[in-house]
Amino acid sequence: MKIFVTGSEGFIGSHLTEKLVKKKHKVTCLVQYNFHNSWGWLDHVDPKIKKKINIITGDIRDENLINSILKKKFDVIINLAALIGIPYSYRAPKSYFETNVNGIMNILNSNNITNVKRIIHTSTSEVYGTPNYIPIDEHHPVSAQSPYAASKIAADQLALSYQKSFGLPVTILRPFNTFGPRQSARAIIPTIITQILKNPKIKLGSLHPTRDLTYIDDTTDAFLYAIKSKKGIGEIINVGSGFEISIKKLAFKIAKIMGTKISITKEKVRVRPKNSEVERLCASIKKINRIYNWKPKYSSKKSFEIGLQNTIKWFLKSKNLNIYKSDIFND
Ligand SMILES: NC(=O)c1ccc[n+]([C@@H]2O[C@H](COP(=O)([O-])OP(=O)(O)OC[C@H]3O[C@@H](n4cnc5c(N)ncnc54)[C@H](O)[C@@H]3O)[C@@H](O)[C@H]2O)c1
Repeated sequence: MKIFVTGSEGFIGSHLTEKLVKKKHKVTCLVQYNFHNSWGWLDHVDPKIKKKINIITGDIRDENLINSILKKKFDVIINLAALIGIPYSYRAPKSYFETNVNGIMNILNSNNITNVKRIIHTSTSEVYGTPNYIPIDEHHPVSAQSPYAASKIAADQLALSYQKSFGLPVTILRPFNTFGPRQSARAIIPTIITQILKNPKIKLGSLHPTRDLTYIDDTTDAFLYAIKSKKGIGEIINVGSGFEISIKKLAFKIAKIMGTKISITKEKVRVRPKNSEVERLCASIKKINRIYNWKPKYSSKKSFEIGLQNTIKWFLKSKNLNIYKSDIFND
């Protein structure tokens, strides 16, 4: 299939692009235009794969540019482009709406998508806020506890409204926290690993919240299942592991795997405002299992640790570690 991927040079996008190329799809990637001609993590993929990707630099916020790219007539569009950090969304909410909401709107409004078979839009578990019940299924109400979550709720609803109003073949995949090599330095697992590698006295924010952590290989597989299937149009579908762990336990687990004794200091600047912190996240994955027959491979205690080991191994390579500025807290 001819597939257009936005946010392709990011963490999930680069892994997904690699998989799509391996599956012999013809992949066109939107890479955010920048002055140093970086293709983000796509610069790090196997050169044989890189050669097969059609890269277009640009910006999802630019309606004319998106419309003209879509003239290439794709079978599938996968929208991953987004600003994703929660703390930065406190400072720059407008940027989040311009990227996360206007971005998908520019795709949906294009007059060049009449023959597209599927538009997969990427949501996030953050939209649920602190849950009323666990595990969180797709009927759980949404509640924005950060401008990031608000922008993702708006984008999801916009995409669904275009499905209902104009019959566009939209599917919303809603990943819970994904981890693995190449994840953003601002996410919790890279924060823990990169700090431990420099100093066993690590600094974190709140330690009690829990997260459902899904290994990247499982998350990207969910996208492949969604592309292959004719089912799921007009649906929101959780992608998670159903495995819940607190930040504190996670830090000690990572330290144990790395063979290091750590101490944790709670650093004020890293703690989110009380009502903004999502206290628990744990996915119900019954729906994705029913619709796509997808099951996570890394959800048992043992396989979760294998995912962590793979991630740690990747960070141990200095060419990877040096990209991360672990000693500085950036929001
Ligand atoms: N990583 C997770 O745990 C997680 C969990 C739930 C949902 N998600 C969602 O998955 C998607 C990908 O997340 P990720 O973790 O790979 O993040 P990431 O930050 O690594 O990737 C985001 C990508 O969007 C691109 N982008 C940002 N602004 C852009 C613009 N104006 N024009 C074009 N491209 C732009 C970035 O360059 C980057 O490639 C996002 O939509 C995110 O909300 C991620």
